[in-house]
Amino acid sequence: MGSYFDGFDFKGIHAKSKELLLHPKTLTDEARARYMDYFEKKCSASKASVEAAKEHIPGGIQHNLANSYPFGLNCVKAEGPYLYDVDGNRYIDFLQAGGPTILGNAYRPVTDAVIEMLNTTGNVTGLFGEFEVDLAKKIKQHYPSVELFRMLASGTEAGMVAIRVARAFTGKSEIIKINGCYHGWSDQLLYDMRAVNTGNMFAVGVPDDCLNHMCSVYPNDLEELEQRFIENEAKGGTAAFIMEPIGQDSGALPITKEFHVRARELCDQYGALLIYDEVVTAFRVGIGGAEAYYGIKPDLTMFGKAITGGYPGAGGLGGRKDVMSALSSGIASTGGKVMVGGTLSANPISCVAGYTAICEMERTNAHEKLKTAADRFTRQVADLADQHKIPAAIFNQHSILHIDLCGIQHITSHSDDLEILGNIFEILPEANRRMKEFAMALAAEGLIVAGGNKAFISLATIPVLDDALEVFDRTFANYA
Ligand SMILES: Cc1ncc(COP(=O)(O)O)c(C=O)c1O
Repeated sequence: MGSYFDGFDFKGIHAKSKELLLHPKTLTDEARARYMDYFEKKCSASKASVEAAKEHIPGGIQHNLANSYPFGLNCVKAEGPYLYDVDGNRYIDFLQAGGPTILGNAYRPVTDAVIEMLNTTGNVTGLFGEFEVDLAKKIKQHYPSVELFRMLASGTEAGMVAIRVARAFTGKSEIIKINGCYHGWSDQLLYDMRAVNTGNMFAVGVPDDCLNHMCSVYPNDLEELEQRFIENEAKGGTAAFIMEPIGQDSGALPITKEFHVRARELCDQYGALLIYDEVVTAFRVGIGGAEAYYGIKPDLTMFGKAITGGYPGAGGLGGRKDVMSALSSGIASTGGKVMVGGTLSANPISCVAGYTAICEMERTNAHEKLKTAADRFTRQVADLADQHKIPAAIFNQHSILHIDLCGIQHITSHSDDLEILGNIFEILPEANRRMKEFAMALAAEGLIVAGGNKAFISLATIPVLDDALEVFDRTFANYA
């Protein structure tokens, strides 16, 4: 079996992940030592600054993405396809802040629009502004399921509001999710987060009662999904089924088209709302996001990151008019409606940045270029892995690339595999270590990825993809 997979091939990717967990290749000892030496010698100012930060910030690093191995890098400049650290090192950016900078870093037309807005309305007024409607119209244009759109401050808020309005609208309490999927860090959606059957494990500080109306299913398991709908009937019914439409961890374990079609039918049959969490996928897996990618209309869609072009205040909920009409217009006018607030939500900066970014995506035909480049590059990386005889699962969903050498995602799907379960406490930390080491090796060779198994490319990255390929070639040469 080669390392290249079709981005919808759940079964093939799942089987390959298992092989990677049980029979991986690792960095040679010599390469590991050389890369560690790179960080000690060439990134010493970064190391000193993250150490000093621990005096002032819990753990020193605030963002998950920045928490890289062997330590976080202190970024002082971002431009086009590159990131620069405080020691003067330049990296090709395959992190893209976790996805939202689709046009590239510090993209000039968006920066200019934001500066112009700052010079007119300033950063915030508290009053209504026309730019809010401009952005809502753009989102409706590309997401046919969105009849009304409400701006929020983050993807986490979008998740909170989505399940609240689903319960209010349907009059039911139960929520079904896919285990391992992440929908932000609000209390209830921490249930079975990231890893399978972990239930309340990640919900430290959340009372167990708070998670009573949550349950989860394995990815792509339609029988289990139907079973949950049936069981929930005895508890008053399911308010919503919520999913990361391309699968957990930005699609590391892809969701099949068949699952989407049936999930839609089951939601209709049981009077539940279908919620797509498009925080990563909107404007990423095509301008129309996962809704267009799968050709299915959800009832509600969570937005984040990309709808502001990566500027802060990045969140929103869109969907059916009848459902969205159940939301309040701010704190003062709840009148039996679902309470939604947010002083800085829908502020001039986030709205103008988002609107301009989407207009620029249209003008530059960004998504068509990204797809062509990503499809080609993914195959090239897979060919390299095969040439170096490195077992890997390599695939893309539009401009999201998965380059997995460690197989860690296998654990978080159907863990009915005794070979793995028997050794899970040895296998998991080892797989984790290999994932971090891969990211470390790539960084030392000049390229930063998200975690150790996924990457995002931007319009600005396309001209430097040949350089990126050389980075993968040099890195793969250090595996044995
Ligand atoms: C799929 C998904 N949903 C929700 C969120 C939460 O969004 P935010 O970080 O804006 O709160 C994230 C963040 O990474 C995400 O990837």
